[in-house]
Amino acid sequence: MLESKIRTQEEIEQYMTELKTWLKQERNNPIEEMTDFFTKRLGIYENVHLERWAKEYEHIADYFNSELNTLLDIGCGTGLELEAIYQRFPRISVTGIDLSENMLKKLQDKYKNKGIKLILADYFEYPFGTEQYDAALSFETLHHFKYQKKQKIYEKLFQAIKQGGYYIECDYIACCNEEEAICLEQYEYRRKENNIPDDVFVHIDIPLTLEHQMDLMKKAGFRDVRVLYENCGTMIIRAEK
Ligand SMILES: C[S@@+](CC[C@H](N)C(=O)[O-])C[C@H]1O[C@@H](n2cnc3c(N)ncnc32)[C@H](O)[C@@H]1O
Repeated sequence: MLESKIRTQEEIEQYMTELKTWLKQERNNPIEEMTDFFTKRLGIYENVHLERWAKEYEHIADYFNSELNTLLDIGCGTGLELEAIYQRFPRISVTGIDLSENMLKKLQDKYKNKGIKLILADYFEYPFGTEQYDAALSFETLHHFKYQKKQKIYEKLFQAIKQGGYYIECDYIACCNEEEAICLEQYEYRRKENNIPDDVFVHIDIPLTLEHQMDLMKKAGFRDVRVLYENCGTMIIRAEK
């Protein structure tokens, strides 16, 4: 298990100052559609993510129960989180869903002999089924969506997990209401300025606070929602069905 690093008040203030400066710089930059964003960065994607979350990728399997046979990974991308999962659970059956064909191709090349079931789809729309998986996982994917949109995904995940199963999320969580509010304000502003239709996904971070995040999970039916790890803005949350 990883050791948490919780920011001091001073560190949060420093972070918020830097975030505000960055948001100002980004405000009038062109917006990138979700799939285009990842397709353009396919060559550098893994290095960028590993530089930032190497520890979390390496240890994500620690947060699962010792027996795990079926796993649903939403927004699986190139499957960085699956490396540790396959090491710990070599015979596991994984279903991965992602919007980006290029990311999925890269994943398929890496895990050719694992029999992974890959689905090229929008996870909000694709039906996950009922009580199919021992556990579900999302890693750094859901912080691009608003509270109301995310409600649906937690309901679907709750339904897809077997009784006694659980959901693990490693994601970007806002440190305070102000962070959530200023990111969301900028997201709405940039979408409006760029005339982005409501149904188009864009690559802009809009993290929720932990309180809002947990609220969503509990509303979907999950019980015992706990933060198992925290490193500045990154948290690993586990929710039981
Ligand atoms: C930052 S990447 C994370 C990928 C992988 N989980 C990892 O940590 O390396 C986010 C992924 O979520 C996918 N994604 C975003 N929105 C999605 C949606 N609505 N349906 C399916 N996949 C989505 C993107 O295509 C991208 O591959």
